[in-house]
Amino acid sequence: MDSAVRIALIPGDGAGRDVMAEVEPCLAWARSRGRNLEAVAFPYGADHFLATGETLPPAAFAELRDGFDGILFGAVGDPRVPDGRHAEEILLRLRQGLELGVNFRPSRSAGPGLGIPFDVEVFRENTEGPYCLQGHTEPGRAVDLAVHTEPAVRRLLEAAFRRAEERNVPLVLAHKANVLKHGHGLWLRVFEELKAAHPAVSARGMHADALLCALVQDPKPFGVIAADNYLGDLISDLCAGFIGGMGVAPSLSWAPHRPFRCTALAEPVHGSAPDIAGRGLANPIGMFLSLALLFRHLGWTGEAEALEAGVEAALHDGARTRDLGGTLGTIEMGEAIRSRLRES
Ligand code: NAD
Ligand code: IPM
Ligand code: MN
Repeated sequence: MDSAVRIALIPGDGAGRDVMAEVEPCLAWARSRGRNLEAVAFPYGADHFLATGETLPPAAFAELRDGFDGILFGAVGDPRVPDGRHAEEILLRLRQGLELGVNFRPSRSAGPGLGIPFDVEVFRENTEGPYCLQGHTEPGRAVDLAVHTEPAVRRLLEAAFRRAEERNVPLVLAHKANVLKHGHGLWLRVFEELKAAHPAVSARGMHADALLCALVQDPKPFGVIAADNYLGDLISDLCAGFIGGMGVAPSLSWAPHRPFRCTALAEPVHGSAPDIAGRGLANPIGMFLSLALLFRHLGWTGEAEALEAGVEAALHDGARTRDLGGTLGTIEMGEAIRSRLRES
């Protein structure tokens, strides 16, 4: 028998826990379809940090890296930890330590009456830029360094070019090389090189400020947008706004060069949403679609498509949480999706 695919579950904080609870039954569902899958839950998050002082212990990081194939992540962030230390040491440590340099954030109109017709995929570099966390504060002055390295930039852009080629859609690189001459100058140089190697892709760079205005005025000409860590974070939330908001946007981060056993982390684009957490108000759609991306990464295309179809069918039949103008709670929305999986 093949050895089991091992998936680590890290619900984290707030709404992350609410939406994780809704997708957990889908792991048993995948098993019932014959997938040899083992899921293990980890407690890391604000409660665990406040109770024990532990964020992500080194031994746990090593276990996730070497003993699992993928991670399903909720969200981190808690008002009781105002400096966000645990979030940094859990989520950024996983993204950076596992070298999950490609963060894929697709935004596609999912249902009738939800946002406008929209189909844009953001490829966000996931480990560098200002997220290198090298900075300091001194009296009257503060410094945040942004580091960009050629291997990481190349990996991200290669993935974006491949995707634009596969979908036959235009690729735009968002940059501010007019100001960030060094960092974004490097991005532009690698972009031009890959453009020459992918003549079939319609590819151009745009200043990120002008790009945002053009995207809001008419998203139709956009297909794939590549960006560094910081710009990609902003652009992906804007894209989520086109398709119904933070509750519906999924993401998958992966390491194309496969340096460790664990090559992927799936998580919704949204955060821990302290304003609605624990009250049955979080929309689980972004989480269901993130699990679909993880299943596809594992080669389980049938399960990925069934999850996506389940979300679509539930929306088509009018199931809506409050953020989408409906009345369903988190659990009812989860059930609306899961019941359509059983039918499929
Ligand atoms: P957020 O995404 O948590 O919330 C922004 C808005 O979207 C809020 O009004 C919230 O109610 C709404 N929202 C978010 N998820 C939703 C869902 N599933 N259904 C319906 N509505 C939803 O962003 P924020 O308020 O800027 O940040 C809150 C905390 O989360 C902070 O600590 C932040 O650092 C953290 N955060 C974590 C991640 C992550 O873990 N990947 C991502 C973003 C923010
Ligand atoms: C995201 C979040 C994170 C980020 C925060 C919580 C560190 O906004 O996943 O988009 O900026 O990457
Ligand atoms: Mn973000």
